[in-house]
Amino acid sequence: MARKLAAGNWKMNGLKASLAEATALAEMFPAPKVDILLCPPATLVAAMAEALSGTKIDTGGQDCHMKTSGAHTGDISADMLADAGADYVILGHSERRADHGETDAIVCEKTMAATMAGLVPVVCVGETLDQREAGDTLAVIRKQLSGSLPDAVDLGKLVIAYEPVWAIGTGKIPTLDQIAEVHDDMRATLTARYGAGASDIPLLYGGSVKPANAAEIFATSNVDGALVGGASLKAADFSGIVSAL
Ligand code: G3P
Repeated sequence: MARKLAAGNWKMNGLKASLAEATALAEMFPAPKVDILLCPPATLVAAMAEALSGTKIDTGGQDCHMKTSGAHTGDISADMLADAGADYVILGHSERRADHGETDAIVCEKTMAATMAGLVPVVCVGETLDQREAGDTLAVIRKQLSGSLPDAVDLGKLVIAYEPVWAIGTGKIPTLDQIAEVHDDMRATLTARYGAGASDIPLLYGGSVKPANAAEIFATSNVDGALVGGASLKAADFSGIVSAL
């Protein structure tokens, strides 16, 4: 059985003052029944990790470079994130794939770099609306999983997030049957590749998760948690999602 994980992706939101939301969340969940993760922008990773040390909430980055160091202006490595106190890193988010041309092969290299640095990669996959309407959803997700994950993975230190691109920040979510179809297929795909141990990989759903819809999404087949954008920015909202898991 995969562990339960409620993960927040702050994206390009948050200044130092926003750390108060992270510490407020930690105060609400001194002994959480599920794992909780917040991924702030890179500028806040070290400060958040410090602010959350001694709490039950983990900190993560939102991207890392595939190399450990070198002439890559503006980038940060997985080692740097780990050095700053991060435990996780989100990789292959659709916004990175769209804005920065990240391919499955690049995401795969980054996943290996994250694992080498001791971070837990949260690898994102998801179809566009065009792909869904063309009936290609499962084929797209299988291809992304196949290309974005290396053959050698530590099954206990890997998280997958299914985020339909058209559901991100739009208030639209797939039907529960559609979510179950993808999550069941991801579990089968991962099991076929990595064996029975793939049942330990938390499969998160992401895209317009709110306190009001979290419980029904979490009750869906093979959904082990959520990767949350907008509703993770305020402790008052994210706490409702954590409590539903
Ligand atoms: O990574 C989380 C994300 O893309 C979902 O964003 O704002 O729809 O919860 P949001």
